[in-house]
Amino acid sequence: MKIDNVKIINLPKIIDERGNLSFIEENIHIPFKIKRSYWIYDVPGGEIRGGHAYKENQEFIIALSGSFDVILDDGKKRKTFSLNRSYYGLYIPKSIWRQMENFSTNSLALILASIPYDPSDYIYDYEVFKDQVK
Ligand code: TYD
Repeated sequence: MKIDNVKIINLPKIIDERGNLSFIEENIHIPFKIKRSYWIYDVPGGEIRGGHAYKENQEFIIALSGSFDVILDDGKKRKTFSLNRSYYGLYIPKSIWRQMENFSTNSLALILASIPYDPSDYIYDYEVFKDQVK
């Protein structure tokens, strides 16, 4: 997959004096069926998450609270996305190397995934990843 297939997707935003509301429906706002959701929170300052690619899993990442950076790499090009609003997210196709860093205090990252958790879907070695995407 190419880095150009990564995209920021704006979500519906229902503005209301009582507080705003956003939502996501699978296959409508994001291009996959949601098989799993997980979230990353209580990240100590300076910590880095990720550092791997998935063979099949596609993800959509939203900064529900606070901010953090997602650094993506397709084996040729690298791009950094700063997420800091809860009404848009980052769509990452399969086979893209990712790292998450610069988490602000009390940041909350929600990740929607296209497959159930499967350790064999991970590629942890960047050189192996680069070889596979050649
Ligand atoms: P990992 O995917 O390596 O986290 P990150 O990429 O954000 O740094 O997962 C960390 C640990 O959590 C690992 O032991 C596997 C476990 N885990 C699950 O059991 N289920 C899940 O859905 C996820 C994402 C992780």
